[in-house]
Amino acid sequence: MPEFDQRSFRSALGRFATGVTIITARGADGRPVGVTANSFNSVSLDPPLVLWSLARTSSSLEAYESAEAFAIHILGIEQEHLSNRFATKGADKFEGMDVDHAGVPLLDGCAARFHCRKVQRHEVGDHILFIGEVVEFEACDGAPLLYVQGKYGEARRREAAELSYDLDAARLGKGAILNLFSHAYVRILGRVRAEFEAIGLQQAASIILGALAEGMTALPEIRQFAIERDYDFSPQEQQALVGEGLIAIEGGRVALLPKGHEAYGALLAALKTVEDHLVGECTPGELSEARHFLARIGNLDSDF
Ligand SMILES: Cc1cc2nc3c(=O)[nH]c(=O)nc-3n(C[C@H](O)[C@H](O)[C@H](O)COP(=O)(O)O)c2cc1C
Repeated sequence: MPEFDQRSFRSALGRFATGVTIITARGADGRPVGVTANSFNSVSLDPPLVLWSLARTSSSLEAYESAEAFAIHILGIEQEHLSNRFATKGADKFEGMDVDHAGVPLLDGCAARFHCRKVQRHEVGDHILFIGEVVEFEACDGAPLLYVQGKYGEARRREAAELSYDLDAARLGKGAILNLFSHAYVRILGRVRAEFEAIGLQQAASIILGALAEGMTALPEIRQFAIERDYDFSPQEQQALVGEGLIAIEGGRVALLPKGHEAYGALLAALKTVEDHLVGECTPGELSEARHFLARIGNLDSDF
């Protein structure tokens, strides 16, 4: 067994975020006691049980052992000073505080307070575990103080509105080139698809035929061609083209069959229809500017 490093163990435990409580009681001698504790936890709803543990080294141990009741105060975010005070050994923890002279001492202004009857005690390692039955409790709206990794903190709900950037400001405006491209692309693609549909050409066929027409024959190369155009085809679609007698596949290579040549001719004619429509919608000046601009953006030669 590797040596158990106490410091790393404490540090690992400290990653568990907790609230902070002060647990008070009155000793047999009538002296009020209180300790800061984050070992508090709920145990049962019915009956209502809670637990906490106290180090055997606590100077208040005897008082808690003899007491029949204790009060658990869940501290609010403004009560860090009280947490520090009740965590200090030897300090007069109740100095200047207005607490009752009989019964369990109660602190005010906490996020919640549980009045407990001590029902069980267990000796567990270097701590004594106390289980209390809650006989009465109060809670207020205030936010609770937290403790994590040896530091105090406060809870903050994670909400989408708290994102560090302003979505409205980041949104692209109407005239953004990206938006214009996207709209134009979707509209042109829609026309191409409609033309292909009219001649009964499936998209898988059009993309594979298109790749073959570009001189590609290897299947991985054709698939890459399809992916770059935002379209991938399934092995079934690929096989359907073989079944229709458009292409033949052998050793990972695709060849265009006579029927495929015909289909490819129809595909080119469909594309030409769309192109003619587009050109017909533009003035010669717009066309020349658009060709120049799109070739530059697409990183193509100007004489493409
Ligand atoms: C945030 C925090 C949580 C603590 N939790 C516990 C605890 O659960 N059990 C415990 O025995 N001591 C805990 N301590 C330490 C005790 O508060 C401290 O040792 C005790 O108050 C010392 O005084 P005493 O000897 O009069 O008991 C905690 C201290 C802090 C700051």
